[in-house]
Amino acid sequence: MKFIQFLGLATIASSVLASPVSVSKRAFGPNLVANGDFETGDADTTGYGAVTIPGWLVTSGGTPTVVSYGTSGFPSSSTTGPSNRGNNFFAGGDAGVDVSISQTLNVAAAATNIDSNKVQYSFSAWLGGYSTQSDQAKIVATFLDANGKNLTASTIGPVTATQRGLVTKFLSQSATGTLPSGTRSVKLDVYSSIISAGTYTDGYVDNISFTISDTSVKPITLSPPANTNVPKFDHVYFIFMENSNYNQIIGASAAPYLTSLSQKYTTLVNHYALQHPSDPNYIAVTAGSTLGKTGDDNVAVSARNIIDSLEDKGLKWRVYNDNMPSVCFKGTSGEYWQDDAPFYYYNDVGGNATRCQNIVPMVPYMANDHKSSSTAPNYAFLSADDCDDMEGCGIADGDSWLENRLAPLLNSTVWAEGNSLLIISFDEDAGQSSRSSGDSQRVATILVSPKVKAGCQAKTRYNHYNLLSTVNAALGLEPLTKNDLWAQTIQECWA
Ligand SMILES: *[C@@H]1O[C@H](CO)[C@@H](O)[C@H](O)[C@H]1NC(C)=O
Ligand SMILES: *[C@@H]1O[C@H](CO)[C@@H](O)[C@H](O)[C@H]1NC(C)=O
Ligand SMILES: *[C@@H]1O[C@H](CO)[C@@H](O)[C@H](O)[C@H]1NC(C)=O
Ligand SMILES: *[C@@H]1O[C@H](CO)[C@@H](O)[C@H](O)[C@H]1NC(C)=O
Repeated sequence: MKFIQFLGLATIASSVLASPVSVSKRAFGPNLVANGDFETGDADTTGYGAVTIPGWLVTSGGTPTVVSYGTSGFPSSSTTGPSNRGNNFFAGGDAGVDVSISQTLNVAAAATNIDSNKVQYSFSAWLGGYSTQSDQAKIVATFLDANGKNLTASTIGPVTATQRGLVTKFLSQSATGTLPSGTRSVKLDVYSSIISAGTYTDGYVDNISFTISDTSVKPITLSPPANTNVPKFDHVYFIFMENSNYNQIIGASAAPYLTSLSQKYTTLVNHYALQHPSDPNYIAVTAGSTLGKTGDDNVAVSARNIIDSLEDKGLKWRVYNDNMPSVCFKGTSGEYWQDDAPFYYYNDVGGNATRCQNIVPMVPYMANDHKSSSTAPNYAFLSADDCDDMEGCGIADGDSWLENRLAPLLNSTVWAEGNSLLIISFDEDAGQSSRSSGDSQRVATILVSPKVKAGCQAKTRYNHYNLLSTVNAALGLEPLTKNDLWAQTIQECWA
């Protein structure tokens, strides 16, 4: 394998030397790829949850992510790979489908030299995979003209399991050439493909580099996206229903109420959950991280979470749990389980007797709190019990439960003031055990508010971290982690 790496480097050198133009006089500029080493954002704590990947757009598949070297079950700092590797690498994630991410480099500043065929490129990355499994990664650089027309493309990888000698490893791959005349941008598409059976997409990528022999093109500096669109709200409500694919809800005969809300308000039509099973999603959307959870374990954690952000700003909050027998009740009772809302997971919420008083039975507290603005929370998390959450007793049951339970809120004097936003989403898709739903974690999300456009379909790709950053923006909260810091707020469909 060292031989292959050496050959890769030798190829760069010889193609540069053998080039017909006098490239030797032209220095290659800096790496133009933003976050090509995947160090800018946070890695997921277990490698199973999706994260926000600064600088990259997710273009297909389920839950691509960033993993730290040494995470259990993944490559370590001593796995064959880049010598200077930093902490993190890119992986395909746990939705069990092919994924891709993309970034476009603007090279227009070198137009004159490009159009006289004087600009060379050097394109490289480390591509890897897991053990004998044949999941694999590749990167395609497509050279586009000023109109976005494809001129030609250059591909590195895929690195196969055979090339890796059937062991977990990264191999250096590279390509060089001349930017075709007319090139104004270079679109990089990074693919991680699932080939072996299994539920994790183990094509790995690190240290992507794309440099050109024209130093007039400068790398961009990434900065966290500003919120430009989300209005301020006095009250934000959040609810997860459970384990349903997008198409089982929107337009489905089993979900007439949610379908009617979708028509009346705004729907995120390209929205994804982060992980299987349920609880990491609940934690992520209230703490900005999956906090090491891979299952529904009910083990408490100490971590900053949205309740801390709310109290920092002096804002009021409630957790309304349906069929919880009493305020701050811990344990199970009939269909009520304490993991129906995530807050008992947080030592500084469920474990704090004062704060725990805000975890209340939905009936009668939600209706009572909403008789006046002065008693209504600024943020509330609503939860159904294990029957009505759509996982236990089905979609039709959960749909009519929502209609009944939301009526007192949507009919309240507080709602009528017009400064409220209700976000209805799903923790995960229906493929928790099989990963064979074909929906790859795409779930329905509806924004209900007088401040959204009626019947609007938001087509930008989002995930639960974008919901958290939107809640932050709506209430003026500080980000909790790099996941919500770097997640764009919902851009479209605000009235
Ligand atoms: C690889 O990534 C590490 C970590 O950010 C960085 O220090 C190093 O310069 C990168 N190497 C290349 C060849 O890009
Ligand atoms: C762009 O063109 C090249 C060959 O000219 C081709 O191999 C590649 O598939 C094309 N890419 C797209 C996205 O059409
Ligand atoms: C419990 O929560 C209250 C209200 O936020 C706070 O004032 C208090 O300091 C917390 N107690 C502990 C021990 O953290
Ligand atoms: C509000 O209450 C009225 C009458 O009680 C009912 O007909 C209507 O459907 C309710 N609206 C909502 C949004 O629940």
